[in-house]
Amino acid sequence: MSLKLGSIAPDFTQKSSEGEIRFHDYINGSWAVLFSHPADFTPVCTTELGRVATLKPEFEKRGAKVLALSVDTEEAHRGWIPDINETQNCTVYFPIVADHDHKVSKLYDMIHPESLDKMTVRTVYIIDDMKKIRTMITYPASTGRNFDEILRVIDSLQLTDKYMVATPVDWKQGEEVVIAPSLQDEEDLKKRFPKGYKKLKSYLRMTPQPGK
Ligand code: BEZ
Repeated sequence: MSLKLGSIAPDFTQKSSEGEIRFHDYINGSWAVLFSHPADFTPVCTTELGRVATLKPEFEKRGAKVLALSVDTEEAHRGWIPDINETQNCTVYFPIVADHDHKVSKLYDMIHPESLDKMTVRTVYIIDDMKKIRTMITYPASTGRNFDEILRVIDSLQLTDKYMVATPVDWKQGEEVVIAPSLQDEEDLKKRFPKGYKKLKSYLRMTPQPGK
């Protein structure tokens, strides 16, 4: 099965560093970030999981649960977590799925054999509170991800859902956003965007970020 943006994130039951997890129960109406990494006790992965742990308040602010995954066993995960906590000065607070039978990584297309043989590559799925896949990103093993960017994408998606705006190139929190082209009624626009908007072209209308 090939997953696409808009697909329902497939459910699974798998072992993890915190016992058996059923994915849909775990996310339970929250947003979710499911991310794979190649292997335990590796340098880039250690820094990544540490960063995600440090960002706990940021994920919580956005109502997003996180779940890591690799093809190592739950014993290996449990052995590695103290190293992450020690070297990255953090507390890993989320489970790491132990996908040693590749059940989940196959389901989510996280193994790219021409890149890494039987290990998972660095894939990120952002899933909304209706269990829909809203973002899929894949990085090579040698490149640690930028989790500020993952948070930025969640912010953009949540703004779109709430206010019918899109976010322009390199957008950051607090900057102007773009009004969805489907909104055309002037009275509706006044109600939705009381701070007004700039019409640069009929299709390019900028407005201060709503809700700020
Ligand atoms: C790392 O996390 O450092 C890593 C893992 C697999 C391949 C290359 C780097």
